[in-house]
Amino acid sequence: MITLEINGKSVQVEPGTRVIEACKQAGVLVPHFCYHPGLPVAGNCRMCMVHIEERGRGRVDVACVAPASEGMKVTTETEAVLDARKGVMEFLLLNHPIDCPYCDCAGECKLQDYFVEWGATEEGSRRLTMPVHKPKRQPIGPTVMLDSERCVLCTRCVRFCKDITGTAELGITERGSHNTLHLEEGKVLDNAYSGNVVDICPVGALTDRDFRFNRRVWFLKKQDSICPGCSRGCNTEIHFDLKRDYKRHEESKRVHRLKPRYNGAVNQWWLCDEGRYGYPEIDRNRLLTPLLKGPAGLVESDWESALTAVCAELEQHRKHPESLGVLLSPRMSNEALLAAGALFGDGLKAGLMDYSLVQEVHGQDDALLKRADRTPNRRGAELLKLKRGNLPAGELLSGLALDRLRALVVFRWDLATLLEDPALAEFARLRTLIVIDTHVHDWLPQTAVVLPAAMYAEQEGSFTNFEGRVQHFGKAFEPTGEARDEVSLLLELARRLGVRPGFNSLSGIRERLAGLLPGYAEARPVTQRSSIHVSKEAAPR
Ligand code: SF4
Ligand code: SF4
Ligand code: FES
Repeated sequence: MITLEINGKSVQVEPGTRVIEACKQAGVLVPHFCYHPGLPVAGNCRMCMVHIEERGRGRVDVACVAPASEGMKVTTETEAVLDARKGVMEFLLLNHPIDCPYCDCAGECKLQDYFVEWGATEEGSRRLTMPVHKPKRQPIGPTVMLDSERCVLCTRCVRFCKDITGTAELGITERGSHNTLHLEEGKVLDNAYSGNVVDICPVGALTDRDFRFNRRVWFLKKQDSICPGCSRGCNTEIHFDLKRDYKRHEESKRVHRLKPRYNGAVNQWWLCDEGRYGYPEIDRNRLLTPLLKGPAGLVESDWESALTAVCAELEQHRKHPESLGVLLSPRMSNEALLAAGALFGDGLKAGLMDYSLVQEVHGQDDALLKRADRTPNRRGAELLKLKRGNLPAGELLSGLALDRLRALVVFRWDLATLLEDPALAEFARLRTLIVIDTHVHDWLPQTAVVLPAAMYAEQEGSFTNFEGRVQHFGKAFEPTGEARDEVSLLLELARRLGVRPGFNSLSGIRERLAGLLPGYAEARPVTQRSSIHVSKEAAPR
């Protein structure tokens, strides 16, 4: 380890650590535009100047390039350093459009924050009478809008596309104050990770087409969560706003965007576009009430009637448990899987219980994050050993055709995406079909009993990713409509059916999982939600 001094405080860092990171470890955030710990160092903005004393000689230098050395003394706010910072701000502001009132980045813009914190020279506080104009509002791909006038030419986005995705869609052209970010000839910013350039752009030059003019960021709340889009389990923040009654609003939605949460072992700073822009399903096309079979098909009902009907149906199969099948889902949390296993497996002795269908894994893993398995918790289901019976669930449907099952409980499967019409029609032949799901699906036969379940953003729980890492997600808001979280629903069914699973609350389930799932006891649940922190954050943007 290397020992150095930051503003008089001694700190130890690994050899090779840059001074800017050493400062961070000492709790000092050095202002910066071009530096990002996930990208190769460029050292082009000169905003990160600090005073460095090394081997008896002092200099003002850029902290993102200089490596920390033994005995080094770093001072982050000398007069010369503050002057240098103001000078950089002056250069950046001379031609900047200062259109903050309608910039989507307002509230989380480094140029705004640094101006408030560090100011500029007197000249930098004035505007040029003839500033250089550059193109504005350029859709450079399906997800990102570019405003070249706001760009501070830090090249973070250029380096991301060159070094992280290897797609090299962006470059800088022209010279001096006419330097402009541009799309390379014949290219469009449409790689599978394009939304990350918005996160890392320190100003409002790159904005999210999906989020533009949706909400001022200071009205958003955030909840730590886990992306359910694939078995990677990227760490996310759900940014939402409940102030507006979303049900009455035309564009009814509570969630306004997902942002990556740094986890060096899982997703680092990044999210794929598929996961990032998958949030509308939280509010769209949701199943809002229980549905029961009526004379003319499925009709909306209430929980009491639905639970009474479900219990009556399940009671009928108690004498012949071999004819009861349960199709769990790798989209369910560890907690819900354990509760379902205890109710249907140990309690009702279902003849078949499984959580996977053969057709559901698509394509191949990509080189960065995305996994071919587009479900978040297959590993958790595997580790909980929930399979029962000899009939693989992949053959469940032929099992139906063979009349081996009289009753089936299906959790979170849109079977219409996996099966053709003739196979779907087989479900109508079941004596009992109970469906527990978050969304309305076309395949539901009119004989089913359908119970609305909460989405991941509406309940607490955990997923186990493909590497066996247990990660908790928190509850951002209450379930929509009459939907209920699966854990409380399963505990209620167990109570009504007289099944004693050995736990009667989420905390009881957590205690049981701590003894069953490796790493569960060590993984910390996330329960807090707060306003989004718009400046001085430790995570870079
Ligand atoms: S668009 Fe943003 S990230 Fe890209 S160079 Fe300009 S300021 Fe940097
Ligand atoms: S890689 Fe997977 S977990 Fe990560 S954001 Fe994409 S879909 Fe979600
Ligand atoms: S030169 Fe260090 S952050 Fe840009």
